[in-house]
Amino acid sequence: MSQVTQLIQNRRTIHHFKPDAVPYELIEKALKLSVFAPNHHHTQPCRFYLLGEKSKTQFLQYAEKEFSSRDPQTAEKKLNRWRAIPGWVLATRKVQEDEKTAHEDYATLSIALYIMMQSLTEDGIGSKWSTGSLLFKKEVYAIFGINPQEEVIEGMFWYGYPDKTPLPFPKQSYHDFVTELN
Ligand SMILES: Cc1cc2nc3c(=O)[nH]c(=O)nc-3n(C[C@H](O)[C@H](O)[C@H](O)COP(=O)(O)O)c2cc1C
Repeated sequence: MSQVTQLIQNRRTIHHFKPDAVPYELIEKALKLSVFAPNHHHTQPCRFYLLGEKSKTQFLQYAEKEFSSRDPQTAEKKLNRWRAIPGWVLATRKVQEDEKTAHEDYATLSIALYIMMQSLTEDGIGSKWSTGSLLFKKEVYAIFGINPQEEVIEGMFWYGYPDKTPLPFPKQSYHDFVTELN
């Protein structure tokens, strides 16, 4: 099996990370590779924010407030899981008035994030793209200093050494999703 085939088949979304820091060079390498995502009209829509301790703490404080209406035990469990995650990258794309271009830009961002996942997987680092509803509120734009007229938050990209790697999901078989037309 080629290395690419193995990488594609072995990558998993990681939900539980070890708190150990990941060398900066590895996320830098992943981000530098992400610009190779195909990008229609070369709109260069992706923006990434590497969170430091201060911004991570501010976000976690905001999350704690938002979770106050939830079951306290479940909320605390989730917050503790988040606190342990060493790598946080907020992913945004440039605002695009034209709907078709916005759609294409989202596709480019998705591929960019996938490239990052694969680059990190190659280096033994797990990752997760999260679109949890908490991320899209105006408070989050304010915390990270993002102007909602210029950029759209599309998720948080977490990375770190996997603590647990999930079992593979069953995948569709070829004829479930491919129709061969004459
Ligand atoms: C756009 C997008 C958003 C996602 N958001 C979440 C999320 O908010 N929470 C979560 O647990 N997983 C999230 N995931 C991860 C998926 O649940 C995961 O990819 C899926 O379960 C398949 O697992 P795999 O990546 O290991 O193949 C997201 C994935 C994508 C592509």
